[in-house]
Parts: sequence; structure tokens; C-alpha cells
Amino acid sequence: MIILGIESSCDETSLAVYDSVNRSVKATFTSSQAELHSKFGGVVPEVASRNHILKIESLFEQCMTEAGITPQDIDAIGVTNAPGLIGALFVGVSFAKALGYALKIPVIPVNHLSAHILASELTNQELKAPYLALIISGGHTHIYDVDEAYNFELLARTIDDAAGESFDKVAKMLGLGYPGGPAIEKLAESGDENKVTLPIAIKKKPDFSFSGLKTAVLNKINDKSESDADIAASFQKTVAETLTLKTLRMAESLGRNKIVVAGGVACNGYIRRAFMEKQGYEVFFPSPRLCTDNGDMIAYAASKFFGQRKFASLDETAHDRMQQ
Ligand code: KG4
Ligand code: ZN
Repeated sequence: MIILGIESSCDETSLAVYDSVNRSVKATFTSSQAELHSKFGGVVPEVASRNHILKIESLFEQCMTEAGITPQDIDAIGVTNAPGLIGALFVGVSFAKALGYALKIPVIPVNHLSAHILASELTNQELKAPYLALIISGGHTHIYDVDEAYNFELLARTIDDAAGESFDKVAKMLGLGYPGGPAIEKLAESGDENKVTLPIAIKKKPDFSFSGLKTAVLNKINDKSESDADIAASFQKTVAETLTLKTLRMAESLGRNKIVVAGGVACNGYIRRAFMEKQGYEVFFPSPRLCTDNGDMIAYAASKFFGQRKFASLDETAHDRMQQ
């Protein structure tokens, strides 16, 4: 089957063509709005929606050319319908429904977070559930259990800021640009990660909390006694310790030894190494390109969900929050 994947939940418009028989991505094109939003220090929803509208059609045409197919060759369309910015989601969902209607092919609504997790299977083709999955993105920090039948059970989540959001906020406080994650990672390379002591919040609980850490960093910045690089390195180390501690403890309690770490923050080399150094677990990551938002993971998720026949009708809509 040839599946078109459409992602427009935040600030990336991304479309991809996935061939589920050969398990290969035949084309993928992404238009990132990061530069556009960087002057505002974060994503402006209205600007995001407008730019998805401006880009989506040409990305679709580029995909057809690159994959060497016509729209009539597409068998199904996968589209992110939740969670995300509502106006941004509407663009992808409306495009998918119109195309599906015109071509008389099914449209499969895809949960963005499930797709982030499944992206690890595109990179590691031998990987199969069951596994425990940590998703660390700009909007979410969730631990899911994924069973043999690919049921996703939410086990823990952040009670305030997401991991990526904390990177973005700390970067803003240090005067670095948006998105903050890559900028912090770069600055941290020249810092001493053991110089500044920072707290791990609600250490004994399964849930995450990053807002106290953000405040502790702000206090250190205001003190002016530590260098920015030492603060960045110590912050990154504390986030890595928090994520590994809580994820591994959950894996141990469920007897899972396979762990997937996905989402934009999983691009971070320091955090990847922190997980890989832990003994007794097999840890899988999507490739860095597949950690951030992409159409590939949406098309792949749709191929996995196709058998469940949860097809969208014309009144299918988008949801800014998860339907749970
Ligand atoms: O998954 P994603 O592309 O979009 C959402 O669904 O949110 O994640 C974006 C987040 C941003 O907060 C960004 O700062 C973070 O991922 N990020 C990183 C790195 N690259 C991206 N965080 C830490 N280190 C990185 N290298
Ligand atoms: Zn995402």
C-alpha cells in the first residue's frame, strides 16, 4: 500500500509517502516555520495555521514528483488529528479529507504522540511492541506502555511544563533563540555539568514536573555567580537524570526491558547517551530527523492502524487535546 502522511500539528508542515509493502519512505518534504516564530520566542498559533495553508499543497506536489507517483496511486491518507494547535491541525485534516473524498480513499486519523513513538520502528526495523515508551517533546512528557496489540496506555505525564518546553524556557532566559533545545545542547558542551546543583522534582512519584527546575535555573542566572555554560550543562544533566530515573523505574516495575525514547528532545545527544549507558535495557530512538515532527511517522502509523479500520468520515475533526 502507498500511504500519504500529513503532519501540521505545530510549526512544521510535513508530508511523506510510505510504501508499506517495501517498508520504505518514497518521499518526504518538510517546511519548518522555526525561523518565523523565533522572533516571538515561541510558536504563534495564527502564524502557524496561515503558513501551513501556504505550504501544504506545494509539499504534496513535491512528494508526488519525488515518489514518482500520481495522486491516484495513493491507497490511504494518514493525518495528525490530535493533539496540537487546533487551527494548525485543521489545515492538515481539511486537506486530507478533501483529498480522500476526491480520490475515494480512506483517511486515517493519527494521534501525534503515538506516531512519535512509532517513528522508532521506522529507524529500527526489527523493533516491535511490547515496549515502554517515553515521549519528550515541546508539548508533552509522557510515559506509555505499548502492548503486543499496540494499545497505548498512558502511565505518567508532566504535571506542568514539558521537557522540551523547559529547554525552550531556559534557553529564552539565557538569551538563546527558539527552539531552545539545540542551543542549550551546544552551550552545554563547554560547561561543567557538576558545577550547579539543581533539583529533581517529585522524585519518588512516576509523574514529571519541570517548572521548579526552571525557577531554580532562573535564580542561578539572577545570582550571576555561575557561567551560562555551566548552568546549561547542569540543567541538561538534571533533565537527563529525571527522565532516566523515572522511565527506568517504570520499566522495572512493569518488567519491560525494551524502551523507546522519542519526540524532539530525543534528538539531544547527552540524553540519548544517558539512556544508552543504563545496563539491562535495550533502548531505541528514532533517527534525529524522525524525532522532530515529520510526515513519515504519520504515514507509518496510518499503515499500522489501517487494519483496525478506524477511518475518518467527512465530519471527522481535529482535537487540540487527547481524546482520553
Ligand atoms: O516533537 P517536536 O518536534 O514538536 C512537538 O511535538 O512538540 O519537539 C520540539 C521540542 C522543542 O521544545 C525543542 O526545543 C526540543 O524538542 N528539542 C530539543 C533538541 N532538539 C529539539 N531539546 C533538547 N535538545 C535538542 N537537541
Ligand atoms: Zn511532535
